[in-house]
Amino acid sequence: MSESTLTITDNRTEKSYTLPIENGTVRAMDLRQIKSDADDFGLMTYDPALMNTASTKSAITFIDGDKGILEYRGYPVEQLAERCDFLELAYLILFSDLPDKQQLAAWTYDVTHHTFVHENIKTLMQAFRYDARPMGMFISTVAALSSFYPDANKVSDADIRLAQIKRLIAKVPTIAAYTYRHNRGLRYIYPDNDLSYTGNFLNMMFKMTDVKYTPNQALEHALDVLFILHADHEQNCSTNAMRAIGSSCVDPYSAMAGAAAALYGPLHGGANEEVLKMLSRIDDTRNIPEFIQRVKNGEGKLMGFGHRVYKNYDPRARIIKRVADEVFAVTGRNRLLDIALELERIALEDEYFISRKLYPNVDFYSGIIYQAMGLPEAMFPVMFAIPRTVGWLAQWQEMITDPEQKITRPRQIFVGQPRRELPKKKG
Ligand code: CMC
Repeated sequence: MSESTLTITDNRTEKSYTLPIENGTVRAMDLRQIKSDADDFGLMTYDPALMNTASTKSAITFIDGDKGILEYRGYPVEQLAERCDFLELAYLILFSDLPDKQQLAAWTYDVTHHTFVHENIKTLMQAFRYDARPMGMFISTVAALSSFYPDANKVSDADIRLAQIKRLIAKVPTIAAYTYRHNRGLRYIYPDNDLSYTGNFLNMMFKMTDVKYTPNQALEHALDVLFILHADHEQNCSTNAMRAIGSSCVDPYSAMAGAAAALYGPLHGGANEEVLKMLSRIDDTRNIPEFIQRVKNGEGKLMGFGHRVYKNYDPRARIIKRVADEVFAVTGRNRLLDIALELERIALEDEYFISRKLYPNVDFYSGIIYQAMGLPEAMFPVMFAIPRTVGWLAQWQEMITDPEQKITRPRQIFVGQPRRELPKKKG
């Protein structure tokens, strides 16, 4: 028995139950013993949107939403963003500790040499309409990868799992870049294994007639930081989807297609695209007070503001503001930045946002940076999905190897028709 306990008295039966409290939680299954009579199924909890339910124990990402703290494997994200490159960070998230020099070299080599996709993947992507939404193409292509690696469904085999993890992390930038080139009507560019993860991504996106593409170092570094900030964020909507789908023991490509679909929504990873649309609609700082009033009247949301967990400034947004300066030094200042800065200033002084603890989140500034880099709005959710692949896979692996996890299967409260008989057929 743990030291802390919760005692519940059921006034239907006058019985008392003592439940252990561990890690600030009671086990929902412990409530099952609380029954009104022998036929009773037992007490359940009702928690739409899982607002107050810990669905797993996890050692990957720690967030203190009130204090605005984000840590991966115990390291503050601010330090990681300053000192790591993205693949080093990916190793940390996946394998619990930072790699030594040799481990990093081997890991970088492995990921770099899985960046090519089967030629049929290219053909498959060419079948999309010329103006297909990049995220739709991305989700479908990730799902299609499962048909290229039929072994991937052996999810209890650690070596097979690792092979798919390397493949997915390596191939998502290639697929993402192909979705962009497809939209632009440009030929697909093969990966260049001499370049870094982000340098190669820029190559596949922007190479034109150059024989060898040389990425701009400032943009390559900015992208590394942005990818680090988006790598994982514990049990959010898409990660929950990854774990729930993966809990059926399906292959990770199919599970990740589902996770990417969850990310696509405007309340999650699609918010960065919505922020840009919103800033473009506001158009001028003079229109901000009227826009804020409309938000307060409930006529829409201030996109890029608010978070289920952060009730303080999102630490990622703080770092992104700094990255913006580095990028604008290369690309020139994005005029939407002035609108964003003024919007933030006004909102943070307004009682509506103060009382609801609404602060800028990661998506408030990321879109402005991506736009300055030359990316169309529809690519922004894809830019979120590339680094989040690492988080999804780490969470999937943790779930598969957790002896407590089973197939996800919530309960429901049935509120429909009680049993009734079909009317007899006439004649
Ligand atoms: N603009 C205006 N009002 C808001 C906003 C906003 N962006 N976000 C929340 N509120 C209000 C909401 O209307 C509610 O007010 P009231 O108490 O009067 O009904 C109150 O604040 C609490 O909001 P909630 O909807 O109960 O909070 P939630 O935890 O369910 O939603 C959220 C979190 C992120 C979905 C929401 O804040 C939102 O829709 N934000 C805009 C979309 C966005 O930027 N999403 C990106 C999230 S960060 C990237 C990621 O990890 O996906």
